[in-house]
Amino acid sequence: MLDFQTAGESHGKGIVTVVSGFPSQLEIDPGFIQEQLSRRQGGFGSGPRMQMEKDEVEILSGIRWKKTIGAPIVTFVRNKDFSNWEKIMDPLGDRPFGYQDITIPRPGHADLSGAVKYHFRDLRNVIERASARETVGRCVAGSLARLFLRSFGIQVGGFVESIAGIISQIDVPFQEKIKASLPSPIYTFDLEKEREMIQAIEKAKREGDSVGGTFIVVASGVVPGLGGYCQTRDRIDARLAAALMSIPSVKGVEIGDGFLSSRLLGSQVHDEMGYCAAKKPFSIFRKTNHSGGIEGGTSTGEPIWVRCAMKPIPTLRKELVSVDIKTREEVSARYERSDVCAVPRGLVVGESMVAWVLAQTVQEKLGGDSMDEILDRFQAYLLYLERFPD
Ligand SMILES: Cc1cc2nc3c(=O)[nH]c(=O)nc-3n(C[C@H](O)[C@H](O)[C@H](O)COP(=O)(O)O)c2cc1C
Repeated sequence: MLDFQTAGESHGKGIVTVVSGFPSQLEIDPGFIQEQLSRRQGGFGSGPRMQMEKDEVEILSGIRWKKTIGAPIVTFVRNKDFSNWEKIMDPLGDRPFGYQDITIPRPGHADLSGAVKYHFRDLRNVIERASARETVGRCVAGSLARLFLRSFGIQVGGFVESIAGIISQIDVPFQEKIKASLPSPIYTFDLEKEREMIQAIEKAKREGDSVGGTFIVVASGVVPGLGGYCQTRDRIDARLAAALMSIPSVKGVEIGDGFLSSRLLGSQVHDEMGYCAAKKPFSIFRKTNHSGGIEGGTSTGEPIWVRCAMKPIPTLRKELVSVDIKTREEVSARYERSDVCAVPRGLVVGESMVAWVLAQTVQEKLGGDSMDEILDRFQAYLLYLERFPD
């Protein structure tokens, strides 16, 4: 099974990603991985840290002459900022002279719950690993997944839908929204709303506050029959929700019409079917896509459509009340250098997680150890879809 894990602290040496179960003979375009890492660093509203870091992926194993060899793929992205933290983050050094524990947890962060869980007096131990710096590893894994998915004609893209309640609304096909969002400083497609969103971010910044928003990820070219309904873990919607909810600050995930469908009638929600002999590889299609391309935990063949809600960033210059765990007094929360809005960057991480889940389900459906083997099986599956139910 395809799997990945990340390791590394926000101000440690860097972020390691270990990807296992990847088939052999997949051509790897390092430029594409780099492109995704740069997108993750972009987005108006990102803070000084992102201006300092220039994430570059180093491949340590599992790839030879630009092709996967079936072995675990291990990558490393160095933290440039480590040079400023060497003593504080030294794995084998001693506590630096004069170092003061961080004892004031920030509301909305893992600081306090993490300290309780692991019995820390210095919250730095929590902050370092709970930080969204870790999402750089998800983008590495997601880029590999996207390269894998391309072989099956699956494209994953997305756009920022709203920031601070301002919603991009131009009614054009999703492909156009994705295309128009690529050059946008906040990865959205509606130029007028883009301006308003940027103003809202600037205003929040001036006032020492932060803003959240929503983004949408769409996967097109997905064949019907991925995922499944027999067991909890088979369901592709459940897997997408878990993967997306694991992104720091994502607090809601909707598949297709999601919460809206709970307010509509059944006849307004369920996608009627149609038949078109010329439609390949599967001639039975849906006239609408309210389900977001998933029914009964299984892909329908229509684009998979998910919306994520991100809460506003929890590190604020505006003072929120906290409690000093050392003195047990109520005090103002500490401010640590931070973004004001992470929604555009969250989108790139969201695309990575969707790509990852889809790559898993494709691999589970087709099996196989090498790309040749998997692609042969894919051709057979396409033929089966064309002839279905014969
Ligand atoms: C790409 C990305 C960047 C983020 N940058 C920051 C940041 O600079 N400052 C901050 O306080 N939170 C940031 N966050 C959000 C926090 O990491 C997150 O809210 C926190 O770890 C608590 O987790 P939770 O919101 O899931 O409960 C970012 C999230 C993402 C996805």
